[in-house]
Amino acid sequence: MPVPGAGLPDLVEQHTPVALVTGAARGIGKGVAASLLGAGWSVAITDIDESAGQAAAEELARLCDAGGRVEFIPMDVADELNVVACLERVEEDFGRLDGLVNNAGIAAPDSGPVEQLRLLAWNHWLSTNLTGPFLVSKHSIGLLRESGGAIVNMASTRALQSEANTEAYASSKGGLLALTHALAVSLGSSVRINAVSPGWIDTRSRQQQASDPLRSVDHLQHPVGRIGQPEDIGSLVAFLLSPAAAFITRQNLVADGGMTRKMIYVE
Ligand code: NAI
Repeated sequence: MPVPGAGLPDLVEQHTPVALVTGAARGIGKGVAASLLGAGWSVAITDIDESAGQAAAEELARLCDAGGRVEFIPMDVADELNVVACLERVEEDFGRLDGLVNNAGIAAPDSGPVEQLRLLAWNHWLSTNLTGPFLVSKHSIGLLRESGGAIVNMASTRALQSEANTEAYASSKGGLLALTHALAVSLGSSVRINAVSPGWIDTRSRQQQASDPLRSVDHLQHPVGRIGQPEDIGSLVAFLLSPAAAFITRQNLVADGGMTRKMIYVE
């Protein structure tokens, strides 16, 4: 018996997957964008810093050989109207969204003694590091549901352990882990959501790293023997957004070279 459609050319539409990476003007976000472009994604890089974001897009455009393209769209993740406008532009310019990386953050953890921590400062950490990922996820979910996409939230090993005087940063990242597991359950099979918790990542330029090298003791407190680089996080994020990670959701993947598992006795 003839099979309907047998012999017709394969009409399954091929598409380039599209990711949005927040806070990608520099540092880990830029490294994540580079990894995704290398894996053939198109990437909308966004940042509150427009001139650095534009410069990063120009630099990253050199990595577009794998078929994707890169575009900078300004966005303050803590401003809902800004977030809505950015997502409208992603839809207009790229037509789809397959991956969201909530990376933008106030990355400095030291907020000083808690008795002197001003509410304004506390709110600044929380609004960027926690409210930002909530807002960008909220307004991306429609597009991500259509594509069966995935989200990666950039948390930190500081969500799990602390130095003194880091209450605001640690709370924002702990909240982000909770947002990750809550959303993963709410969105079920339509959108996968994971967190990545980087340890110590040296985000300085290669020239700065060469002219002002870190001490060997800094490297050696990591069981892998070195401090991390943005591409260490980029490759993990690219994996988590890919179909190869289709069975992984609501996890927190710690990428710290083993540092937070090392037992330390001071002699
Ligand atoms: P970075 O400071 O080099 O880059 C952060 C980017 O976010 C900047 O380009 C900044 O302009 C942008 N940004 C800040 N506020 C924003 C806002 N309201 N809206 C949009 N963009 C905004 O930081 P880094 O080191 O690359 O960190 C990236 C993420 O990784 C952060 O969430 C940080 O907390 C996290 N992380 C970093 C670690 C490290 O060792 N570098 C370790 C663990 C976590």
